Amino acid sequence: MRITMTGGTGFIGSRVRAALEAGGHEIRLISRRSGPGYFRWPSPDAPFPAASLEGAGAVIHLAGETVAQRWSAEVKRRIRDSRVLGTQRLVEALAAMQERPQVLICASATGYYGDRGEEVLDETSPPGRGFLAETCVEWEKAAVQAEALGVRVVRLRFGMVLGRDGGALKKMLPVFRLCLGGRLGGGQQWMPWIHLDDIVALVQWALAEPEVAGAYNAVAPAPVRNADFTRALEGILGRPAMFAVPAWALRAAMGEAAEIVLSSQRVMPRAALNAGFRFRHAHVADALRALLS
Ligand SMILES: NC(=O)c1ccc[n+]([C@@H]2O[C@H](COP(=O)([O-])OP(=O)(O)OC[C@H]3O[C@@H](n4cnc5c(N)ncnc54)[C@H](OP(=O)(O)O)[C@@H]3O)[C@@H](O)[C@H]2O)c1
Repeated sequence: MRITMTGGTGFIGSRVRAALEAGGHEIRLISRRSGPGYFRWPSPDAPFPAASLEGAGAVIHLAGETVAQRWSAEVKRRIRDSRVLGTQRLVEALAAMQERPQVLICASATGYYGDRGEEVLDETSPPGRGFLAETCVEWEKAAVQAEALGVRVVRLRFGMVLGRDGGALKKMLPVFRLCLGGRLGGGQQWMPWIHLDDIVALVQWALAEPEVAGAYNAVAPAPVRNADFTRALEGILGRPAMFAVPAWALRAAMGEAAEIVLSSQRVMPRAALNAGFRFRHAHVADALRALLS
């Protein structure tokens, strides 16, 4: 199948793209960068490059300004616009087509749920509050507009994606290897996580199964508290995690973005499990061992 893809140069996207290409799919890559074979989309203010959609059977939309930085007003605008405005531009391009792709697989995040303490969350849970939650709600709302065009829309609410070459784990590893790692805040907050291989498998599943549609929590079925994650990582690395970073210090260092690591989200992948999806990496210690040993 011909697949149009945004965010295909990123941590998740480059892995998804490689797996799909290995499976015989033809990927059309959309990027802000210029490169051989890239369809250039300089900014979400610009129209989506419609030529990239011609003859495509699917769109995978992962582009988004990283949230792992201090959130100035300008950064917040980029985080929001790259997702909400970008998705609106994509749907406008789909609306202008005669023969549309059958499916749009759009990234979202468990940030949708906000900070929810011990509450067990599934796809039927209402959204939370705060900048990330509001951004995710708007992002998903923009993607859902494609349903009225006859496109099957799959919204994948990613938890923290664990892979060696990027994301949160790549940032944590050098710190833990120096024995400077430790739990964040009280350590009791729930952290939804997923192994990158399971993200790839979820995308392949969503492409292949015509009845998969709507919101899916892309998280492993065994969420952990931050303190348990820290213990699992120190055990596998064989380095004691001697430090605990208090919430005030995180807020001082990261500002409002500290909500990413301090919010508690006990998220379950109910919809994927009910539909028969099998996670390869269900337990965090096994997932970390698979990645690091
Ligand atoms: N990694 C995680 O743990 C995680 C967790 C929850 C949700 N997600 C979501 O999953 C998606 C992919 O995540 P990732 O970790 O692979 O991200 P990433 O490595 O930062 O890659 C994101 C891609 O988006 C494009 N991009 C970045 N800033 C942009 C901007 N201001 N405007 C337009 N495009 C921009 C870039 O492509 P070009 O440079 O080629 O244009 C980049 O390759 C994101 O939407 C993210 O919110 C990720």
